[in-house]
Amino acid sequence: MSPVTQVSTISADGVEVFYRHAGPASAPVIVLLHGFPSSSHQFRNLIPLLATRYRVIAPDLPGYGFTAVPPSRNYLYTFTSLTNTFSAFVSALNLSRFAVYIFDYGAPTALRYALENPTSIAAIISQNGNAYVEGFGTDFWAGIRKLWASGADLDRQALSPVVELPFTKWQYTTGSPSPEKIQPEAYYLDQALMERPGNKEIQLDLLYDYRTNLDFYPRFHEYFRTSKVPVLTAWGKDDPCFIPPGAEAFKKDVSEDRLMVRWLDAGHFAIETNEQQMADWIFEFFEKYKVFA
Ligand SMILES: *[C@@H]1O[C@H](CO)[C@@H](O)[C@H](O)[C@H]1NC(C)=O
Repeated sequence: MSPVTQVSTISADGVEVFYRHAGPASAPVIVLLHGFPSSSHQFRNLIPLLATRYRVIAPDLPGYGFTAVPPSRNYLYTFTSLTNTFSAFVSALNLSRFAVYIFDYGAPTALRYALENPTSIAAIISQNGNAYVEGFGTDFWAGIRKLWASGADLDRQALSPVVELPFTKWQYTTGSPSPEKIQPEAYYLDQALMERPGNKEIQLDLLYDYRTNLDFYPRFHEYFRTSKVPVLTAWGKDDPCFIPPGAEAFKKDVSEDRLMVRWLDAGHFAIETNEQQMADWIFEFFEKYKVFA
């Protein structure tokens, strides 16, 4: 019988964090961290597969999904804040050690957390979760880099299509060899949530703040080297946002005896179609490197 996913909320950092969870309470923990502009919803097909063996926990970051941020909280939408909220969430659930699946915005959030809590992270699974400058798709990031350089209103306004439906759909379908297998609910949900008052400004704030993550890259690399954390990179190979050299780059800091590099025939939201392959590789990776032994 397939495990049933439950939804809950927990207070952390002044925020009501929504999360999906499944699997045996006593099993080793995998935390799944989503990206822009999605939420834990992106893991809906993967969670039941992983939960046959592990306790799976997937929170929605502030600004996404069903996590509720009270207006009185005056939340500042930066990656520093997302990391603080994630850290408070981990503490609220009393998670002492877990493997973390990082995708898109989930990557800098979890890796910043890891710098402060290196012993909490048992392993890293990066699915298009970037940590190297080599990983940026040139065309995709051009407009964003322009905003990073100038901080100008005009450059911010030029990015407004990024929070509209055609672009949201584009992120799901581009690079997929079988876009006809991608069901539309995911990108319509993401878009509906971005249509909430104020949410598009939050998204542009975070796009601008993403530049601050690059300053952390040398520290991320040092953490990879010194912590000896095992890493599985399993990337959608035709993702225009985070391109394959970003996955290859992990080889610079993660030695062969704890790195597994795999490619999914997919784009950015690779597990819309390739969740079974991903689950199989995660199981293989955990066993090969005795992650929870
Ligand atoms: C976390 O641990 C504290 C102290 O032992 C306990 O009161 C709390 O209920 C635990 N929370 C969860 C979500 O297990």
